[in-house]
Amino acid sequence: MSIDVIVLAAGKGTRMYSDQPKVLHTLAGKPMLSHVLDAATAITADTIHVVTGYQSSQVRAYFAEHPVATPLKWVEQTEQLGTGHAVLQAIPAVDDDKTVLVLYGDVPLITPATLQQLRQKAEETGIAVLTLITDNPTGLGRIIRDEVGQISAIVEEKDASDEQKKITEINTGIMAFSASRLKQWLQSLTTANAQGEYYLTDTVAIACGDGCKVSSLLTHDENEVQGVNNRLQLADLERSYQIRRARELALQGVTVHDPARLDIRGPLQIGRDVCLDVNIILAGSNRIGDRVSIGPNVTLINSDIGNDCVILANSHIEGAKLSPGCTIGPFARLRPGTELGDNAKIGNFVETKKSTIGAGSKVNHLSYIGDASVAENVNIGAGTITCNYDGVNKHKTTIRAGVFVGSNTALVAPVTVGREATIAAGSVVTADVPDNTLAVARGRQKNISGWKRPVKK
Ligand code: UD1
Ligand code: CA
Repeated sequence: MSIDVIVLAAGKGTRMYSDQPKVLHTLAGKPMLSHVLDAATAITADTIHVVTGYQSSQVRAYFAEHPVATPLKWVEQTEQLGTGHAVLQAIPAVDDDKTVLVLYGDVPLITPATLQQLRQKAEETGIAVLTLITDNPTGLGRIIRDEVGQISAIVEEKDASDEQKKITEINTGIMAFSASRLKQWLQSLTTANAQGEYYLTDTVAIACGDGCKVSSLLTHDENEVQGVNNRLQLADLERSYQIRRARELALQGVTVHDPARLDIRGPLQIGRDVCLDVNIILAGSNRIGDRVSIGPNVTLINSDIGNDCVILANSHIEGAKLSPGCTIGPFARLRPGTELGDNAKIGNFVETKKSTIGAGSKVNHLSYIGDASVAENVNIGAGTITCNYDGVNKHKTTIRAGVFVGSNTALVAPVTVGREATIAAGSVVTADVPDNTLAVARGRQKNISGWKRPVKK
């Protein structure tokens, strides 16, 4: 049976104390709602109906810029009259022959595997509830079962008797239904309860009254059903997520010096015998080859690191592509468009941007290389600057193979330095340098003998 997903995301998120809608707060670098939409996409939902209310235009604007693979239908719930009311806003657009899955926009770590199982149960009986057994059920809906263990109702905390409050099996909020039956059951919802809301959970007792068996699925993973109401819960959930990813890596053969000090915010492809020191952030989509070593306090963003590269402490690498055997840092900054050939070296306090640096070339100290094409076996001395910007336009510097650039050289672009040329230290190079030439572009030294230092009067 094909499936539609309804995501409830109209809540105000009062306890976030934020100007941003709650579901746009990020976990592992991605809005909570994106995680939920990705899970819905993974189970091949036809359409995702997202019910928004508070700051809905901001939520829509985000997804207009960051589209998901599954078609989204935005549904406005202007007044938040309960979870049943929220589903009522979306359900008319769902075809009768579908299975419909209800998710929460603030429960980000739900897994596709669990959703798939829940969906199958709903396809067998018409209604299925995802439950959890917890030591701390306070505030949550309790699962009421009859003598033979069948679910007969869900009772909200505020409506529960003292006896019911002792029940430790709770409603996670995630439910699946036959769409046609859900449409009927929703018609019977009332607000006759402690909160005066339309409870989606009341569909359980209504289905039972209809002679329908309510199936359930018990999850053992608290994190996957953990809702986020405040920033502390979000931080705790982020930590559990990160620890889980770090442990997975360690079990896959990556040396993780401390699983509690690694942050992975996006997809990662990683090879064998990689060593990750502490406080590393891997953001966006990264690929790390075999035998790569990454030192402490390194940030890697949308980069591709070839085999056997060594990245030393405190380096910041974004949008860069490193061929095998490169050495970076410590304290290097590789900006987008940096491409390094085999065994290239970028040392401390060097910044590179939109530049290719050839195999075996070295920029070891205190330099800025931007909009440059540096060929192989070039040595760039300390303090070399490509002056790529004239205040209006950017210009290119070309340095051919085997060049030696002396320290403290300014290369005023556009400029080309020919093969095997040498540039004297302290030069300001404003004109092209031919192959195999020494360029000296600075004042000649004058030594004045017998000169006396001034004395204090
Ligand atoms: C709900 C369940 C409860 C379950 C708990 C799990 C009901 C009546 N109760 O509790 O059994 O244990 O979730 O967390 O369903 N929302 C809307 N529109 C509304 C109301 C809510 O979009 O009118 C959204 C919220 O933004 C949130 C989700 O639905 O993402 C759940 O709402 P919340 O108020 O947190 O759940 P409870 O009613 O407390
Ligand atoms: Ca809640």
